[in-house]
Amino acid sequence: MLTKSFTRRGLAVVTAGLLVAGMAACGNSDTGDKPADDGKLTLGFSQVGAESGWRTANTNSIKESATAAGIELKFDDAQGKQENQIKAIRNFIQQKVDVIAFSPVVESGWDTVLKEAKDAGIPVILTDRSVDSADKSLFKTFIGSDFVKEGKLAGEWLVEQKKAATGPVNIVELQGTTGSAPANDRKKGFGDAIAANPNLKVIASQTGDFTRAGGKAVMEQFLKANPKIDVLFAHNDDMGLGALEAITAAGKVPGKDITIITIDAVHDGMQALADGKFNFIAECSPLLGPQLMDLVKKVKAGETIPTRIETQEGTFTSEQAKAALPTRKY
Ligand code: AHR
Repeated sequence: MLTKSFTRRGLAVVTAGLLVAGMAACGNSDTGDKPADDGKLTLGFSQVGAESGWRTANTNSIKESATAAGIELKFDDAQGKQENQIKAIRNFIQQKVDVIAFSPVVESGWDTVLKEAKDAGIPVILTDRSVDSADKSLFKTFIGSDFVKEGKLAGEWLVEQKKAATGPVNIVELQGTTGSAPANDRKKGFGDAIAANPNLKVIASQTGDFTRAGGKAVMEQFLKANPKIDVLFAHNDDMGLGALEAITAAGKVPGKDITIITIDAVHDGMQALADGKFNFIAECSPLLGPQLMDLVKKVKAGETIPTRIETQEGTFTSEQAKAALPTRKY
């Protein structure tokens, strides 16, 4: 059976609080009241890169939704580099786009460029990943997942699975991109959850940069250095999929000799789960495009929007993956 939360697909608005006055009212002086020459709204979007299946699905969702909403999209691929994103945002400011949205590669170091956008009267929407800026007036809203919760769901599942363990359970962790919100938060959520059972120990933790190649290379090192690995927690499906190759090459059976937990639930990850190579996935939805376009229009129209909008997500076991795969969109 699918979980109740899983059956309620799609995005649900979680209001974390209304915008404070002046931040909420995106009046003309704040956003600029000049429509694009052809009357279309222009959105400048800076994407992290193309590191994973999740990212590809997210890019497709944004491009398709912009077309469907009649919004002119200026799309930039930062190729995993913060400096490229900063450059892209400055270009968008120069081009006087109506709204800027971006998925920050890392959490820190955005205040200067966000202030430049604010001074230029261009509202900014954060998608997928947030920033650690203390000044919340630098962006209008955040739309994306609760990454801490995803890590927590992964950890809680493991605690339940290993509740009868009498000795140490050795866990290795493949972290996402160093300094990124999902890597920081998933590590924290998972760590907090497994603290419930002192037998559960993370014996090695290293970044695989959210890529298959990274996951494979780091898992090879883990396997060489640690004769007894019971569990792999990978911060995304792609690193888990790369790790499968390393585990098989080392003569071990993924999903049996080593329990594998990942995050995302993209198609290839779900297939691995259905095939019994993965054991559990916490979902992270990449389908942010439709709601982003809606927010772009609202922000530009000066409507009040919530300061944080979270996607609603579920979890999958192997049986649930088998049931979901035929209708899975990504
Ligand atoms: O920010 C979301 C994360 O980034 C996804 O979990 C991962 O696959 C991606 O690269």
